[in-house]
Amino acid sequence: MPGRIVGDLTEADPHATTGQGGDRRYRELYENMPVMYFEMDDQAVVIRVNDFGARQLGYAPEEILGQSVLDVFHEQDQATVQEQFQSLIRTEGVASWEFRKRKKGGEILWVRETARAIRGAEGRLVVMVVCQDITERKRIEEERREAEEMVRQLSSQLGEAQEKERRRIAVHLHEDVGQNLALVHMRLAKLAPADEDRRREVREIQKLLHSAIVDTRTLTFELASPVLYELGLSEALRDLCERETEGTRFQFDASDASPDLPERIAVSFYRIASELIFNIRKHAEAGHAWVSLEVTDEHVSMVVKDDGKGFDPRTRREVSPSGIGLFSIEQRVGFHEGELDIQSTPGVGTRITVSIPIEKSGTP
Ligand SMILES: Nc1ncnc2c1ncn2[C@@H]1O[C@H](COP(=O)(O)OP(=O)(O)O)[C@@H](O)[C@H]1O
Ligand SMILES: [Mg+2]
Repeated sequence: MPGRIVGDLTEADPHATTGQGGDRRYRELYENMPVMYFEMDDQAVVIRVNDFGARQLGYAPEEILGQSVLDVFHEQDQATVQEQFQSLIRTEGVASWEFRKRKKGGEILWVRETARAIRGAEGRLVVMVVCQDITERKRIEEERREAEEMVRQLSSQLGEAQEKERRRIAVHLHEDVGQNLALVHMRLAKLAPADEDRRREVREIQKLLHSAIVDTRTLTFELASPVLYELGLSEALRDLCERETEGTRFQFDASDASPDLPERIAVSFYRIASELIFNIRKHAEAGHAWVSLEVTDEHVSMVVKDDGKGFDPRTRREVSPSGIGLFSIEQRVGFHEGELDIQSTPGVGTRITVSIPIEKSGTP
C-alpha cells in the first residue's frame, strides 16, 4: 500500500528507482523517519499513520487506525483542534499548530503539526499531517517562563523591602533626629550669653544647626516623601516640582479627578517622576520644565518635558555608562507592563512620557 505520500515522493525524486524497489525505499522512510505522519478523512478519522507516529504515542498503528484523531489530543485542546481541523477542511488549505497529545500511558507529548487538506483520488478530502515532538522545547520555554516570573517576583519583593526600609529610616530621621535638632535649636535661641564672643559662637552654632535641620528634612523627603503617603501622588509631585530649583521654573498640572491609586503604583510612579525631575535639575540646564499628571480608572500617565540642552537618546549609554536612572525607569515601566517614550533633541529639550495601566499592574 504505498500511500499518497509515497506515490508523490516517488514521482518527485528523479533518483528513485521505479517499481517495487523505490516503493520499498520510501515505505521504509515513511514508516521509520523520526517524524510522525498521520492521515485523516474529512471526519478526522485516522486512515493512515506511520509506525514511528504510532509508537511515539505508545500505540500499535492498528490501535489508532479507524479512531478519531481527536482522541489522542489532550482533553483541554480537543475543542480547538476540532475547530482548526474543520476550518482546514473548509478552506482546503495548509495550517500549523502546537497542541498537547496524550500518550497511551497518559503522559503528555507537545507536538507541532503542519496539516494539509487535499482531495484524494475519489474526490474526498483527506488531511495529511506531519507531526514533530516539541516536548523538550516546551519544557525549556516553561522553565524560562518560571525563571522570569521568579526574577519578577524577587525584584518586586526587593522593591517593596527597599521602600519599607526607606520609610522606616525616614520616620526615624524625622521623629527622632529631626525633633531633637529642632529642640536644640529652640534651647540655643534662649541662651543669651553676656559677652560678644560667646554670642557670635552661638550664632555660628545656630547656622550649622539650621543647615543640619534643612539637610535632615531634605533627606527625609528623598527617602520617603511624607506628602506621598499622606496626600497622594499628585500632591507629592507638586511638592517635588516646587522644591528649590536653581534656575529652572517648574510648572505642574494634574487632572482633577485623581482616584486613589494602589500604593505600589503610586510609590513606583513617584520614584520615576523624581528621577526625571532630578535629571532635569542635574543635566538639562533648562529655563522651564513642565510636569503633567493624568490619573484615570485605567491608567496613570505623565509627561515630563523641559526646554534644556537635550541629549541623543540613542547614545545616552555611551555618554553616561554608569547612568542607571533611565535604565531603572525602563525596568519599572516594564514590570508594570506600561509604556515609556523618550524624545530628546540636543539644543531643543527633552520630552518623556510614561504610562502605567492600573488594573493589570504588577509590582516594581
Ligand atoms: N532632561 C535631560 N536633559 C538633558 N540630558 C539628559 C536629561 N535626562 C537625561 N539626560 C542625559 O541622559 C543621561 C542618562 O541619564 P540617567 O540614566 O538618569 O543617568 P545619570 O543621571 O546618572 O547620568 C544623562 O547622563 C544625561 O546625559
Ligand atoms: Mg539620572
